[in-house]
Amino acid sequence: MGFNVAIDGPAGAGKSTIAKLVAEKEQFIYVDTGAMYRGLAVYFLDHGVSPENEGELENACEKIKMDIRYENKVQQVYVNGENITGRLREEAVGNMASVCAAVPVVREKLLELQRELAAAQDVIMDGRDIGTCVLPQADLKIFLTASVETRARRRYLELKEKGVACDLEEIAADIRERDERDSTRKTAPLKQAADAVLIDSSDLSIEEVVAVIASLCREKRKTPN
Ligand code: CDP
Ligand code: CDP
Repeated sequence: MGFNVAIDGPAGAGKSTIAKLVAEKEQFIYVDTGAMYRGLAVYFLDHGVSPENEGELENACEKIKMDIRYENKVQQVYVNGENITGRLREEAVGNMASVCAAVPVVREKLLELQRELAAAQDVIMDGRDIGTCVLPQADLKIFLTASVETRARRRYLELKEKGVACDLEEIAADIRERDERDSTRKTAPLKQAADAVLIDSSDLSIEEVVAVIASLCREKRKTPN
């Protein structure tokens, strides 16, 4: 069994940025579970599967073989033998992922795969339900959050830097909508685990958050539960 760190929190809280840096510092593999939902979404979009139709989703899930590989420690998502990692950040893919992630059959499809990855190696895994549902026995659980305004500003700056035209209010509205969908769904909603450490990064730099989590990892490794 590997040493397992779970990081959950809302969209734009900094989970993937922080998890990648902690992974480098502490020699973990960073497992991005959002990318797995996005991987299924690519297939659903390519095959015209309606996210509102549970039967269609179930049929499609049966046809998908997902493989997660780590090439130079960077996660690659394969769907039916094809590496689709380059398509995961498309906007349509993010929207489809967020909608279909609310459907139980879609979540079940990924649960075993996520647990296998955590059992095989030391991982820091980020998502929405890692501490509550996927890895309830994780060695360390973090719930990383920040205000909607801060998260919207971060996304805005990120897009502006890439030269993408965007509107701060629209981004904030999109984040609110995602928060609502992730928190109110029946299956595995976004929720802080009772034994998770809460970190509000609204007024913390990336380096500060990484330092806090790396130090918690070291403490836990020295004195496991
Ligand atoms: O993975 P998640 O959706 O939680 O967020 P992310 O994509 O890692 O982070 C969103 C943005 O916030 C990135 O541009 C980070 O560089 C930035 N960020 C920050 O400015 N300060 C922090 N303390 C954490 C993240
Ligand atoms: O768009 P964002 O970067 O916030 O999300 P992501 O981590 O790439 O995940 C894509 C979508 O999958 C999210 O909008 C969540 O609704 C969903 N997701 C989930 O339900 N459970 C997870 N463990 C990870 C992602």
